[in-house]
Amino acid sequence: MRKSEPPTASRFQAFDLLATLVAVVHSDGTVLFANSALEDAIGASRRTIEGSQFAGFFTEPRVLRNALSGADSNEFAALRYDALLHRLNHEPIPVHVIVAQTEKHSEIIVELLPLEQQARQDREERLLDQAQANKELIRNLAHEIKNPLGGIRGAAQLLQMEIDSRELTEYTQVIIHEADRLQTLVDRLLAPHRKPHVVGDVNIHEVCERVRALIQAEFPKGLQVVQDYDTSIPEFRGDREQLIQALLNIVHNAAQALAERIGAGDAQIILRTRIARQVTFGKQRYRLALELHVIDNGPGVPDSIKDRIFFPLVSGRDGGSGLGLTLAQTFVQQHHGLIECDSAAGRTDFKMQIPLP
Ligand SMILES: Nc1ncnc2c1ncn2[C@@H]1O[C@H](COP(=O)(O)OP(=O)(O)OP(=O)(O)O)[C@@H](O)[C@H]1O
Ligand SMILES: [Mg+2]
Repeated sequence: MRKSEPPTASRFQAFDLLATLVAVVHSDGTVLFANSALEDAIGASRRTIEGSQFAGFFTEPRVLRNALSGADSNEFAALRYDALLHRLNHEPIPVHVIVAQTEKHSEIIVELLPLEQQARQDREERLLDQAQANKELIRNLAHEIKNPLGGIRGAAQLLQMEIDSRELTEYTQVIIHEADRLQTLVDRLLAPHRKPHVVGDVNIHEVCERVRALIQAEFPKGLQVVQDYDTSIPEFRGDREQLIQALLNIVHNAAQALAERIGAGDAQIILRTRIARQVTFGKQRYRLALELHVIDNGPGVPDSIKDRIFFPLVSGRDGGSGLGLTLAQTFVQQHHGLIECDSAAGRTDFKMQIPLP
């Protein structure tokens, strides 16, 4: 640390709470403060980083030097560019650099956003936007189908009363039966929008245990359900029934994907709960979040539908209606959360994230 500066660590301590990499740099290029995320990324302790030339950590040191002198001479309030950050014993990582002035002239804040993280955030935002657009589309479409359905069914019933021929009533029966089937489908499509949100204290392990009991009752043989719980997870406000339904849909898919292994007797589903700190999903940042993983050892999500499994009516299964995951995502989003999927042959991981108080 530079002897002439006042102790900086305490002033900048709050930066340690951020997941973003932050350095406070003197206009001559020496690091005055490095936050813990930056220490972790570089793989060196704060004591090593502070006092050294920050530009030395980049593949092209000149760019940062120019940026710093630009900030120092008031050429801009904030400058952004992409760079490669060196790390000890690791490959350099691509980062988005933001150089910003502070009130104190000689101190400049350099913020680094790892680009993978940026890409992930973009992807999640896109997912949320898509889900929103989907919901609108489904609601409108479902209403359009629902309205004439009652009329079609009623007309078929009237016709049936007028016809004596058994052969012809078979046709009216088909109309009535299919109208009923569509009615059920449409009701399922509209359910998440209509159902009131019953809010209470939710214990996530109660939710897990309910789903576990249901699934074990349905698949009593050949399927092992492993409980890997972090019991310190606090309760949170939410709709228990909705979360049971969401989790059940995910676990049910896993069990269906495991059909072959269930037959062979070595099918496994892991229910894993964890607490995650300082996480971002969607556009929001949360101090604490619950992570609930459903991991199965099945064949994985088919590549052809991988990007679209949360879309309505997308199914890779004979007889599947392709609504299970759409509903699950909607329910979890009503808890300000998000479901993500990471799947490969032999290991599929559905991660449900919900912010905790
Ligand atoms: N754990 C999993 N392993 C492999 N494929 C999966 C898994 N979970 C989901 N899938 C795939 O994603 C598709 C969509 O799932 P989703 O639950 O939305 O619809 P569905 O199961 O086909 O129909 P339903 O509305 O009855 O749930 C499934 O058909 C399946 O192909
Ligand atoms: Mg399903």
